[in-house]
Amino acid sequence: MTIGYELAGKIALVTGAAGSIGRAIALAYAGAGASVVVADRDEQGGILTRRAVEAIGGAALFHPLDVRKAEDHTTLVAATLDRFGRLDMACNNAGISGGISPLADYPLHVWADVIDINLSGVFYGMRSQIPAMLAVGGGSIVNIASVMGLVTFVGNPAYTAAKHGVIGLTKSAAFDYGRSGIRVNAVAPGFIDTPLLKTVLQDDEFAEVERRHLLGRLGRPEEVAELVLWLSSPRSSFSTGGTFTVDGGYLAQ
Ligand code: NAI
Repeated sequence: MTIGYELAGKIALVTGAAGSIGRAIALAYAGAGASVVVADRDEQGGILTRRAVEAIGGAALFHPLDVRKAEDHTTLVAATLDRFGRLDMACNNAGISGGISPLADYPLHVWADVIDINLSGVFYGMRSQIPAMLAVGGGSIVNIASVMGLVTFVGNPAYTAAKHGVIGLTKSAAFDYGRSGIRVNAVAPGFIDTPLLKTVLQDDEFAEVERRHLLGRLGRPEEVAELVLWLSSPRSSFSTGGTFTVDGGYLAQ
């Protein structure tokens, strides 16, 4: 149990919760006492996350979701309200890397996929989550961006554009709903040790990327989840519209 966050009775939703960072976030919410809605297009992985939450004594629901489909988000929030009666926190985390390719060679279908999942998926998510939060007088949304929402990386046009877009969307939502009690923040992780990285880096590039972090290593999913938990909880009550790094010092140089 994570002490001090007082999330008992609160309901949290996580997209991409079958994946590494999403699962760590789901477990962090549950550890702080919240019930968790686990959403992903990967049903098998999602059920594993649901079981992991239940194994630490939490309540969880798995619901399938393709973040590219606005109607899936509507159904997901409806299922959340049906099972738990409210929605207090959401983390829009689902994402893909799109691989590495210079802009003029970047495949059009990959561009479309990365923008649909990493950017439109966040817009559709907030569009469905916000009305449910307004109904309970407020809430907290955390969108997972990246250090690539603030700088760029070799051969990374779609991911960089989408993550910069997530930071802009976060500010826009924070602007529109701050006075209604909904806080919206973005988290910008550095390189985190997950399977997604293997779609970006060759085996011999890991050491160089580790070196670019002032702490000399990759991050862990749990280290991202810690920041998401703080931003989701009332402990960050004066933070909204912000972008918070958890990057081992990647952006400091
Ligand atoms: P992961 O590949 O382990 O997890 C991503 C999850 O998103 C998977 O479970 C996948 O099924 C789900 N997903 C993908 N497309 C989907 C769709 N259309 N609908 C529903 N679910 C979908 O990757 P990881 O590393 O856990 O990434 C999570 C988030 O963190 C992503 O937004 C990623 O861009 C971001 N991030 C990751 C970093 C890293 O170094 N691993 C660094 C900075 C940000």
